Amino acid sequence: MHNDLDKVLVTEQQIKERIAELGAEISSSYKPGDELSLVAVINGAILFAADLIRQITIPVSLDCMRVSSYQDATSPQQAPEIIDMLRLDLEGRHVIIVDDILDTGHTMKKVCDEIRKLRPASLKFAVLLEKSGRREVHMKPDFVGFRIPDEFVVGYGLDFAEQYRQLPMIGVLKPECQNPPVWI
Ligand code: IMP
Ligand code: MG
Repeated sequence: MHNDLDKVLVTEQQIKERIAELGAEISSSYKPGDELSLVAVINGAILFAADLIRQITIPVSLDCMRVSSYQDATSPQQAPEIIDMLRLDLEGRHVIIVDDILDTGHTMKKVCDEIRKLRPASLKFAVLLEKSGRREVHMKPDFVGFRIPDEFVVGYGLDFAEQYRQLPMIGVLKPECQNPPVWI
């Protein structure tokens, strides 16, 4: 375990096994001939999307969307904004938005609203992690990796002030490593 973590919530092995299951579930959710696209919300979902797409056995394209982040804090400072939009044409395609974590729901709502304007054939949402205690917008993901308690987590793509994304596991940061402290 990394020295800055208080505890590990999801191990590297658990992530690997669950993503294999999600990939199989997604691969069997579409009919032959369906054109599937993953849209990764970066930066947080980069690692998840990279591992998930390799577990999908039907043809699939990949694009990314950049959404404004927490910056150096641990809770949302402002309404999310789309900073960099997609390059692919999603009209008529079956789209799965891939994000690292669903928390208040504002990011997912914003991304879904924008993608819907592009007239996809269908729109689903996959999140690696789901926290439910702070939901402000009703949003129900179609594919969930793990449901976790309402704690600020880092690792496997999730950051605090752009650090810890490279950790292979997901864990709770020690309070002394959070500056400013969480949940104030
Ligand atoms: P929401 O808009 O509140 O649902 O937040 C979604 C985004 O906030 C995620 O895509 C993450 O980038 C970030 N986020 C939420 N909770 C955490 C956390 O515990 N650790 C790191 N980032 C988080
Ligand atoms: Mg994110």
